[in-house]
Amino acid sequence: MEINQITDREQAPMDLLLLADPNQQIVENYLKDGHCYGAYQRGFLIGVYVLINKSSEIAEIANIAVHPDRQNEGIGRKLIEHAIKVAESKGFEHIEIGTGNSSLGQLALYQKCGFSMQAIIKDFFTDHYEDPIEENGIICRDMIRLSKQLT
Ligand code: ACO
Repeated sequence: MEINQITDREQAPMDLLLLADPNQQIVENYLKDGHCYGAYQRGFLIGVYVLINKSSEIAEIANIAVHPDRQNEGIGRKLIEHAIKVAESKGFEHIEIGTGNSSLGQLALYQKCGFSMQAIIKDFFTDHYEDPIEENGIICRDMIRLSKQLT
């Protein structure tokens, strides 16, 4: 598997990016502000993430998604490890990621990758998303912010 930057915004895989965030306008803003990276296998795009500069010290994985047919094979973990290396090489002190209170698998994965919980933004999803989101039988209401210190 190869992970390469997708420099042409038009080439960003919107179908995959929308798996991580159903709001297309928000995804387009991430692409405008950030750098998009794609994971390729035999020429096929199987995963994607967008890294943004939240501040001069903090990078954020704003969006990460793996093709539904290829989830739970370790690709998401490889994308996060790549994002950590990119953020380190750019001199950031911390890398952050945010997800919903109902995203239990994502919360497990991010903590396995060394992120720890920093804050809860109460009612973020119910305030910013028109349609209710439910996963694992739980209403997605709050955003959990996680952070990892970089060396
Ligand atoms: N409990 C414990 N561990 C779990 C659970 C759970 N309920 N669910 C998943 N995991 C663990 C797995 O055991 C595995 O850990 P391991 O590496 O120790 O074996 C890990 O989480 C899954 O790792 P990967 O296989 O690398 O993950 P995947 O390739 O499926 O990518 C991703 C994860 C990106 C979340 C993918 O499932 C996806 O695209 N989901 C839909 C889009 C999405 O939700 N994106 C994130 C939104 S938040 C944001 O974008 C900032």
